[in-house]
Amino acid sequence: MLETLETIGSTQAEALQAIANAPDDAVLEALRVAYLGKKGHVKQFYALLGKVPPEQKAEAGQRINALRDAVETALSERKSALQANRYADLADKEWLDVTAPGLRQSRGRLHPITQIQYEIEDIFRSMGFDVFDGPQVEDDYHNFEALNIPADHPARDMQDTFWLTNGRLLRTHTSSVQIRAMQQHKPPLRGISPGRVYRYEATDASHENTFYQVEGLMVDKDISVAHLIYVMKKLLREIFQKDVEVRLRPGFFPFVEPGFELDIACLICSGSGCAVCKHEGWVELLPCGAIHPNVLRHCNIDPEVYTGFAFGLGLNRLVMMRYGINDIRHFQSGNLAFLEQF
Ligand code: DAH
Repeated sequence: MLETLETIGSTQAEALQAIANAPDDAVLEALRVAYLGKKGHVKQFYALLGKVPPEQKAEAGQRINALRDAVETALSERKSALQANRYADLADKEWLDVTAPGLRQSRGRLHPITQIQYEIEDIFRSMGFDVFDGPQVEDDYHNFEALNIPADHPARDMQDTFWLTNGRLLRTHTSSVQIRAMQQHKPPLRGISPGRVYRYEATDASHENTFYQVEGLMVDKDISVAHLIYVMKKLLREIFQKDVEVRLRPGFFPFVEPGFELDIACLICSGSGCAVCKHEGWVELLPCGAIHPNVLRHCNIDPEVYTGFAFGLGLNRLVMMRYGINDIRHFQSGNLAFLEQF
């Protein structure tokens, strides 16, 4: 046999040893090219086959085939072994303890004002009230004029107003939505309109420039203050989960006649007098009244035929009473330590 072909055996031994020791895929690939590639050992041995005497050809061919097969097998075995090592390393470094307790994801929540707003919407819906929405950027007509507060009326001073350069304003109360509701819907009508309102106020523990109200109204034939009291008692019973005593005192608001301040018996002392109610036994809760005939007229509702009541509930006050919060500025503070309590 040709001298060169005599080296098939030693080539195979070298190849198998080098492959078995290959440290990584790159070295393994280099070895594959060196032995099985276009210019590799195996190709070179095949090229010499032509010069082998005919009687030795078969045996020489078989030995080259055997070399090729052995190298292929060794390469694929080493490749699998390297991969297994990699997984073992990974398992050492990146293990997972499936019995470890999970990390709690902190959940978002609704602002306490939004929570009570939704609650109040549900209570009123259960009494057949609609929920009306209105713009926060209002015009003079809906915020004042149609509510019986003409331009020169001193009652405008009760609500310091943010005026915009285009003559509009940031609504000072949700009563503006009363007008929109009564203009769009004919009586019988009952609805509430919750929302954000703005006042040009110096802020302190009980004053904010931005706060939340729910305006409510009911218009039909023969609606009286008795209906108002019933609805308010029902609302308070649902909110405070107990019967709450109420009383009305006269109050002035241009859009109601008569107008009232509705007080509730102090929830802390049940009316016997304590520090919270300043020993009066009563806490002022909301203003309300019978809708003024002029307001009905502005909405094309005949005050000779229809009457109604309206009320304005301050949501911030309500949440403060429910949770004993002593500073209204917390609501807009964006302070998570405060907000996460609710
Ligand atoms: N809109 C009034 C305010 O924000 C509150 C109010 C008073 C609403 C009397 C009413 C009402 O519906 O009858 O100061």
